[in-house]
Amino acid sequence: MRTVTKDTITDVFAGYFGTDTDPRVREVLVALARHLHAFTREVNLTHEEWQKALEIMEWAGRITTPERNEFVLMSDVMGLSSLVDMVNSRADATSSSVLGPFHVSNAPPLAMGGDMKRDFGGEVLLVEGHVRDTAGNPIAGATLDIWQTAPNGLYSSQDPDQDIHSFHGLMTCDDDGRYAFTTVKPVSYTVPTDGPVGEILNAAGRHPWRPSHLHYIAAAEGFRTLVTEVFPDDDPYLDQDTVFGVRDDLVMHYESRPADTFPDGMELSGKVKEDYLQVTFDVVLANA
Ligand code: BEZ
Ligand code: FE
Repeated sequence: MRTVTKDTITDVFAGYFGTDTDPRVREVLVALARHLHAFTREVNLTHEEWQKALEIMEWAGRITTPERNEFVLMSDVMGLSSLVDMVNSRADATSSSVLGPFHVSNAPPLAMGGDMKRDFGGEVLLVEGHVRDTAGNPIAGATLDIWQTAPNGLYSSQDPDQDIHSFHGLMTCDDDGRYAFTTVKPVSYTVPTDGPVGEILNAAGRHPWRPSHLHYIAAAEGFRTLVTEVFPDDDPYLDQDTVFGVRDDLVMHYESRPADTFPDGMELSGKVKEDYLQVTFDVVLANA
């Protein structure tokens, strides 16, 4: 078709595909164009607004590095990352939640009962649970790659004063699928706002806060790897996470317990002299 109108452009776009195009590529691109075109018509997008969107993308590209990906952050605050998680989640497994940009590979091993708190201040948090399959059987040897912020709200990769592996650990579950470690209670923190994502949040009158959380990547042979998080039920940002990562089954109660109930067999056994917090977080993995 030579003459294109605002009503025919979407069909014309679909008609331009080669006959041997991969069907999934075609399905995704045609649907993407259909939604983009409909959006443009719906809001009567102006040249200035379209130009602004392109500038935002260009700015994101300019500041994106291997350590900081502004496009991922944009996807996170637009709810796209979480929506991709949710449309791909398995109802019978633990919910997945955003990976975020602060995972560091090659986390040091964290022994059963080991401690990630080290010399950092703050109340001790004992985290324990089991990793099981969807039938409830323990997954012996499942691994948990765990990371969180330090008490100052910064991940190790954001903070020159922290060792790159501080508050990162790789735990291997025992034959009962059990794990346990100590740390400090993570704090709420803000996503980076010094780039275009900050401008988008500001324009929308949105805050940049995330509720406090521990990140887990749970993996085991024969199971779908799960990227998830656990949140305390008293965090003020639970109902307004700026990256939409909270799911009901990931919100847990952190119980305050007297020091004399701290269990044996942990790295910190005998060393905890004040009340500590305890949370149980069980993880269910779906078959691969
Ligand atoms: C995080 O939880 O580490 C995170 C997730 C999305 C954007 C920024 C940070
Ligand atoms: Fe995080």
